[in-house]
Amino acid sequence: EQIKKGSYDHFMQKEIHEQPHSLTTTMRGRLKDGGILLGGLKEHLKTIRRSRRVVFIGCGTSYNAALAARPFVEELTGIPVTMEVASDLLDRQGPIYREDTAVFVSQSGETADTLLALDYALANGALCVGITNTAYTSQIVTMAMMALAIGSDQISTQARRDAIICGLSSLPKNVSEVLKLDVEMKELASSLIDSESLLVFGRGYNYATALEGALKVKEVALMHSEGMLAGEMKHGPLALVDENLPIIVIATRDACFSKQQSVIQQLLSRKGRLIVMCSKGDASAVCPSGSCRVIEVPEVADCLQPVINIIPLQLLAYHLTVLRGFDVDQPRNLAKSVTTQ
Ligand code: AGP
Repeated sequence: EQIKKGSYDHFMQKEIHEQPHSLTTTMRGRLKDGGILLGGLKEHLKTIRRSRRVVFIGCGTSYNAALAARPFVEELTGIPVTMEVASDLLDRQGPIYREDTAVFVSQSGETADTLLALDYALANGALCVGITNTAYTSQIVTMAMMALAIGSDQISTQARRDAIICGLSSLPKNVSEVLKLDVEMKELASSLIDSESLLVFGRGYNYATALEGALKVKEVALMHSEGMLAGEMKHGPLALVDENLPIIVIATRDACFSKQQSVIQQLLSRKGRLIVMCSKGDASAVCPSGSCRVIEVPEVADCLQPVINIIPLQLLAYHLTVLRGFDVDQPRNLAKSVTTQ
């Protein structure tokens, strides 16, 4: 087992640190001459472009990856995207039409709820596409390539597509950069070790980052944690804020930046204990009073920022788990893949 772990103490740690490599592998041969080559999708592109909507279907982390992809899929394809947790779609027997493209996202490819939802969508005549890959960040990158391929017939978005393709090429380098926060995240973890709960606020491209960061903290560090839409803060969660509850606010640069600045101000005025994730050099822009702990990450194309932003949260979950004395590689009560309903 130690041979498989190489120089790492745990498989989770290895998986986190190998992401520059797994992302490179995911993109190899697919980013070519400034364009995208996705063999399996090519013959279906016309049908997908004519879809009434794209429906993303998955569970857990895979659902979160799809949620991270939703904004750029809508932007680059112009097709409305709806989200379905596989079990909920089945419980509701929700509407799926022949004119839909149903995209199934699963790391293992064997999650029972997702496979049953696939049967359901096939029975309803939807075009079904599967995305299976090993890591959350690779899933997002795969969906980015898919969105770029679907939208490749649109002249008006050519410059945006070029910028995203350029951002994809430099993503492994930026992921290596953000992994250098390892020691900082270990320190942060040791300051949170006795907390009972952790909130993570995100919005826009990084709503999914908040959900996924919180899910990781829950499932491996066994600490209560909730990912929340920052825009919903005033509608309930604000009541929880005090000087003890740690709150991570994701406030990297994108169109929602000024809204996140004002969320931070509102939380600080209630004496919130804040940890703010921001773009490099933005510490004083997000927290002029200097009263927040700040995590600075490299800035990449806004829609790819979730790939960077999840990494400090993965590191935090990993270190929290080790420091709290739990088994990182075999989370309590969880199976590797959930093959029963
Ligand atoms: C396991 O690490 C995940 N947190 C879990 O939520 C998983 O994403 C979910 O069970 C779906 O699995 P799949 O991606 O293999 O379909």
